[in-house]
Amino acid sequence: MTNYQIKTFEDYQEAYKASVEDPAGFWADIAGTFKWHKKWNTVLEWDFEKPDVKWFVGAKLNITENCLDRHLKTRGNKLALIWESNDPKERFIRYTYRELHEKVCQFANVLKNNGAKKGDRICIYMPMIPELAIAVLACARIGAVHSVVFAGFSAASMADRIQDADCSMVLTSDGLNRGAKQIPVKRVVDEALQTCPSVKKVIVVERLGWAVNMVEGRDVWYHEEVVNAAKECPAEEMDAEDILFILYTSGSTGKPKGVVHTVGGYMVYSQYSFSNVFQPEESDVFWCTADIGWITGHTYLLYGPLLNGTTTLMFEGIPTYPDAGRFWQVVDKFGVNIFYTAPTAIRSLMGAGEDHVLSYSLDSLKVLGSVGEPINEEAWYWYYIHVGKEECPLVDTWWQTETGGIMISSLAGVTPTKPSHAAFPLPGIQPVLLDSDGKEITDNEVEGYLCMKFPWPGMIRTTYGDHERCRLSYFSTYKGYYFTGDGAKRNKDGLYRIIGRVDDVINVSGHRFGTAEIEEAINHNKHVVESAVVGYPHDVKGQGIYAFVICNEPPRNVDHLRAEIVETVAKKIGKIAKPDKIQIVSGLPKTRSGKIMRRILRKVAEGDTSNLGDTATLLDPDIVDEIVKGAL
Ligand code: WTA
Repeated sequence: MTNYQIKTFEDYQEAYKASVEDPAGFWADIAGTFKWHKKWNTVLEWDFEKPDVKWFVGAKLNITENCLDRHLKTRGNKLALIWESNDPKERFIRYTYRELHEKVCQFANVLKNNGAKKGDRICIYMPMIPELAIAVLACARIGAVHSVVFAGFSAASMADRIQDADCSMVLTSDGLNRGAKQIPVKRVVDEALQTCPSVKKVIVVERLGWAVNMVEGRDVWYHEEVVNAAKECPAEEMDAEDILFILYTSGSTGKPKGVVHTVGGYMVYSQYSFSNVFQPEESDVFWCTADIGWITGHTYLLYGPLLNGTTTLMFEGIPTYPDAGRFWQVVDKFGVNIFYTAPTAIRSLMGAGEDHVLSYSLDSLKVLGSVGEPINEEAWYWYYIHVGKEECPLVDTWWQTETGGIMISSLAGVTPTKPSHAAFPLPGIQPVLLDSDGKEITDNEVEGYLCMKFPWPGMIRTTYGDHERCRLSYFSTYKGYYFTGDGAKRNKDGLYRIIGRVDDVINVSGHRFGTAEIEEAINHNKHVVESAVVGYPHDVKGQGIYAFVICNEPPRNVDHLRAEIVETVAKKIGKIAKPDKIQIVSGLPKTRSGKIMRRILRKVAEGDTSNLGDTATLLDPDIVDEIVKGAL
């Protein structure tokens, strides 16, 4: 589709070599295919120690002109966005590039009419309705920084994120559909805003037609505002290094951090990675099942496909409503050609059997993708055989919120694949495996810490409001490298296999949580004195959450207490973070210096207590017996 879509393995090898030998020249060529108001003075300036990374220095542009305006001449009547409702009986919505352009301009004018301007931070807390996609692009149109908060997070989590970014506006909806449930979204916003004085305006999109509380002078209905909004809105000129968005993600310590991505580099990398990994052709329909509240939704539901002029599909519902055939029904209905989902969805659908898959025609499928967590071989084969009919290349794409786009993956049908291997780095990506002394591992099949030794355009620039935290989290463990937090191996052919996180981050159904963050939430329960959380292998979710909890007095009713703790976590973080197992204990295995030995807790949670290692250094070794006996 673009001049830079790699078509053969030899081309890949050549592009890779060129990208390492002359990174600036390599990326300048690709960037040259975009619309810039002014070209860059320098392609790249970087220093991983500070860290300070700048791409396309001095260039001016607006990303939405590249997503929309640029296509109007040649693709104006082509579908840009297809939206499918939660309810299969409700009519779908389709926008051509021209229509989407108009919708985005109108929303942008509504933002402006309500006082938003370049540089403002705007929190978007909306379900998967077309207005969510439109709102994100509308922010980018006027140069406001979007901070999308997944609509499953609690009021407390939203408030933290709004305060951290000092947002002046919230874009939301009256409510949302999720399978058979309807959830009052605006009520959550109202609760969050009790502690967010910076928010001056709330724009509410009608989805359910519910009567909601509207605060005089603060809250307005989108459908009332849009009546007065012009259908043209000039795109704000942005510097390549201006912030495009903030997206919060969990690390091993403290509260979630606001990962910052900037306009120019993110644009170039999201389009380049999209086009090369998925190999879309002009008439293809691409469906990424992720919510726009996560990075996968940002880069591969929205920006990547639109930058590429591809038709992208957005789905409001869940894979199992009204039944476990819903995904395949949608593929059939719209003739989806490229399908990108998470292993956890595959595993849950696998459990429902093959009949659902067989009920629909999946003939349109050409490429399958996986993201978010390691895909186990069983799920890989099920996906490849039953969904892809052994004819669709399956790309296992490894990347992170911080990387902006896919880093290690095969290119569909172009480079080799191997089950459970993310395979090769994309051109421009220079991964290394380090040992615990920070030395590069050159041997095959040895596990190491996965790091990057050279910048790429889509990489994180800072953590919002706290640059030192960015340095400490990613650039201080191994001097001169970006540290991913993952462990990986490389085989003799150079294919990477991602093992998983090596820090205190757990990955539950493809969602990232810090164990400390969940412990902090649990400790808010009035019966809890202290807690420790670890991940354990879970058949569907990848990892489950196992909490060890010390109470201030022996609970009278353990089930009741567990339910209360789950409720506390749902309130503090969101239902997506609730522990799967809660074991009440009288103490935790601590060293004499007070450090919890998580290694032991992990073993207990995994159900592998045969060899707990040396427990002699513990303050109270007897506690281990109690914990093992009470394991769930
Ligand atoms: C994990 C999601 C194995 C990994 C795009 C990473 C994966 C974290 C894969 C980032 C994969 C993501 N194979 N592990 N294909 N993709 N991960 O920020 O541990 O939500 O560090 O970004 O998910 O999660 P995040």
